[in-house]
Amino acid sequence: MIYPIVAYGDPVLRKKAEPISNDYPKLKDILQNMFDTMYKSSGVGLAAPQVGLSIRLFIIDTTPFKDEEAGTENFKKVFINAQIVEEEGKKWKFNEGCLSIPGIREDVERLPNLTIRYQDENFVEHIESFSGIIARVIQHEYDHIEGILFTDKLTPLKKQLLKGRLNDISRGKVDADYKMKFYVKK
Ligand code: CO
Repeated sequence: MIYPIVAYGDPVLRKKAEPISNDYPKLKDILQNMFDTMYKSSGVGLAAPQVGLSIRLFIIDTTPFKDEEAGTENFKKVFINAQIVEEEGKKWKFNEGCLSIPGIREDVERLPNLTIRYQDENFVEHIESFSGIIARVIQHEYDHIEGILFTDKLTPLKKQLLKGRLNDISRGKVDADYKMKFYVKK
């Protein structure tokens, strides 16, 4: 099943997501659906809040970067209850986009080296270090489970320039070639 992707403006994207345990209902189905949804929308990562679930879960597959950086091909992973342990190095810029914010891409500065603790789909715990594009994708998705979006990391000027377009997205005035869900204020 393909989920609609929650658009910018929905409060679920702003919540700090909750940890889950291995008895979380239908987790296998949710993971399969999230991968199907991510591939359908040509994403390299997808976090549970983007499909309306405020839980500490995200998936990535960096294969589309295979021609840009060695090691990204078939790098497909599930991150459950992730916690960043350390980020280090000299800030670098990379052009980011987000399935919840279609049509907007901007350079974002982040640290290049990442150590993260997480559980895999079998709830086996790992502590691993990543760098380069893989770290970048993980950092972007990790932000989602903390309620942070890449546009939060832009300069005040850039934010001001994007304000109108972000507002349009939150009101459904946007074209995406995948199904989206827009927040309706009650
Ligand atoms: Co995103």
